[in-house]
Amino acid sequence: MKKLCLLGLVATLASHPVWAETKPAALKDKDAFVSDLLRQMTLDEKIGQLRLISIGPEMPRELIRKEIAAGRIGGTFNSITRPENRPMQDAAMQSRLKIPMFFAYDVIHGHRTIFPISLALASSWDMDAIGRSGRIAAQEAAADSLDITFAPMVDISRDPRWGRTSEGFGEDTYLTSRIAGVMVKAFQGTSPANADSLMASVKHFALYGAVEGGRDYNVVDMSPVKMYQDYLPPYHAAIKAGAGSVMVALNSINGVPATANTWLMNDLLRKDWGFKGLAVSDHGAIFELIKHGVAKDGREAAKLAIKAGIDMSMNDSLYAKELPGLLKSGEIEQSDIDNAVREVLAAKYDMGLFKDPYLRIGKAEDDPVDTYAESRLHRSDARDIARRSLVLLKNQNDTLPLKKSATIALVGPLAKAPIDMMGSWAAAGKPEQSVTLLDGMNAVIGEKGKIIYARGANITNDKAVVDYLNFLNFDAPEVVDDARPAQEMIDEAVKAAKDADVVVAAVGESRGMSHESSSRTDLNIPQSQRDLIKALKATGKPLVLVLMNGRPLSIVDENKQADAILETWFAGTEGGHAIADVLFGDYNPSGKLPITFPRSVGQIPTYYNHLSVGRPFTPGKPGNYTSQYFDDTTGPLFPFGYGLSYTRFSLSDMALSSTTLNKTGKLDASVTVKNTGKVDGETVVQLYIQDVAGSMIRPVKELKNFQKIMLKAGEERTLHFTITEEDLKFYNTQLKFAAEPGEFNVQIGLDSQDVQQQSFELL
Ligand code: BGC
Repeated sequence: MKKLCLLGLVATLASHPVWAETKPAALKDKDAFVSDLLRQMTLDEKIGQLRLISIGPEMPRELIRKEIAAGRIGGTFNSITRPENRPMQDAAMQSRLKIPMFFAYDVIHGHRTIFPISLALASSWDMDAIGRSGRIAAQEAAADSLDITFAPMVDISRDPRWGRTSEGFGEDTYLTSRIAGVMVKAFQGTSPANADSLMASVKHFALYGAVEGGRDYNVVDMSPVKMYQDYLPPYHAAIKAGAGSVMVALNSINGVPATANTWLMNDLLRKDWGFKGLAVSDHGAIFELIKHGVAKDGREAAKLAIKAGIDMSMNDSLYAKELPGLLKSGEIEQSDIDNAVREVLAAKYDMGLFKDPYLRIGKAEDDPVDTYAESRLHRSDARDIARRSLVLLKNQNDTLPLKKSATIALVGPLAKAPIDMMGSWAAAGKPEQSVTLLDGMNAVIGEKGKIIYARGANITNDKAVVDYLNFLNFDAPEVVDDARPAQEMIDEAVKAAKDADVVVAAVGESRGMSHESSSRTDLNIPQSQRDLIKALKATGKPLVLVLMNGRPLSIVDENKQADAILETWFAGTEGGHAIADVLFGDYNPSGKLPITFPRSVGQIPTYYNHLSVGRPFTPGKPGNYTSQYFDDTTGPLFPFGYGLSYTRFSLSDMALSSTTLNKTGKLDASVTVKNTGKVDGETVVQLYIQDVAGSMIRPVKELKNFQKIMLKAGEERTLHFTITEEDLKFYNTQLKFAAEPGEFNVQIGLDSQDVQQQSFELL
């Protein structure tokens, strides 16, 4: 009889959510509900919940459905449409306990509408815009039946050789932490249980951005103080903002892989930070414990991971195989498994899936007729957000904005590159829907002026690199070379330049060069493009470089050659329109670098907030025996926080409300900002603090606050920042987070170097 009823329920699944019908009362109390369910589960069903399976060509869908119906899979990733996921949820509803599946995906900077890459979003310093991008991404992804995203990625990266620098928000702890909170709230909305929300799985916990030498998947060896002070706060900020999940990093930390790290996962994450959500391993990370050299075989790997508190095994090959035996032999306890299962069930509860397993899948009759329909995109937001993320690095003689009536030579391998415009981790974005720079400029210029397009160069002439990049992408060739000889392409571009008033060269990296597994030994623009730039420079025509890249590049030569440089990163679906808006002056650029641009790869690391040293290099006072390289100019090419505008801003009258601060008091730091130019514009006023003498060495300065403000031409405004003891706290040698009385310098500037300073004393 019972069986019959259940079958009846299955038949009317879409309209009758199973859990709501059967257990409405129990559903009110999450803990009781989860415990009750757990009690009914067999060991196999429990272990099934711990498996997160990637849906790809190698996984026949029919087999997956069988596995799901048998209760052997807890969730999938990379399956991203309602028609694809519905049959899997149907299969789950046929399983004995009808525990719903969840569907995950890497929604990093957009889902169908692709927003600028994360590093670019950070360049906007615009929390509203960043939040908007996350909210729209969540809405689009939820509408495609997704429940959870492996984002935000908040790994601090201070080594731009690391390809995943593109995926994070830069080098600064404060800025990244602010964005981490904003992104989690944007993805999850008012609740991850909402139909238009995704649960956020913050990653990669922890310290992945500090891999040795910028080599992906490498080791991290770091002092506890540096960890606590600089690298851990962004993950903590995401958790404080309510992130329901954490993805554990692939790297080791001081000798113990994160995936087997009980200090990281239990002591820090769960006990100290009070995290109560789901911990997911990264792809195949449990198996990799063998290669790391901490597990002798798969059995030991599974044991270490479950003991460390890795709830779900991504792309699982070991939990299903090894956990039953480990339990039987007493090497792990039932509670190890139960605790993990509890987190998975609780996460599904929090996603609203027990109330309605079809919450985001909806009814078949409501499925979008065309998944890729233009109407599903959020183009105007994408354009607006992309414009805010562009950083003007140079603008000699006001070369920009361009005249719409000009004849413009548009050259470079990235001028017409729809795939690259999307950047890496472009989720469900379609290259056909992204606006190239050529499209964008043509749309502005119309009949008024003229664009002469010439490719000018391939991304690189190094065939091995092209092969590598194409190997990274399984769907389509990432990099398609123009078969013509390099010189022929350059000649064509030079001819275009000679026939034009001004040259715009779109140069940099293909998106695959700034990606997972794309570490570089040098930060130059590839030689093929450097040859092109040199030839263009030789024409004597004004030269504008539009950079596309996912990491800081060393562009000392290009900075000399170019009259103007606009850093556009990978600007997303509407990139071409957004860049054209800036090039032609329809939008005044306001982005600021979230990461330092070194002069050369040899200077790394170049982050601005380095610790004080005993023999500091003093600009303008060349001398031996100071901390510097003797064979190059000391200091970065472009500092953290730097970015120009088509107008000019001046700062004056910096003042502190007092020369002392009580531990419970407040200090007001103020400055007058004036737009001294002829056009309206936005800028980011940044506040840095230096602890002059502490119980241990402190950074030369640290970003503690900022305000992005719009000023009309000629307008001036006094800005106020509040400083409290909280802003002065740091982790001391005992890892105690406290402020120490003494002198502090406060600096306010439009970047991290060009600042005004006042001092006060903390009493
Ligand atoms: C990456 C993660 C990602 C996962 C799933 C891994 O290779 O390191 O960042 O979330 O794949 O796509």
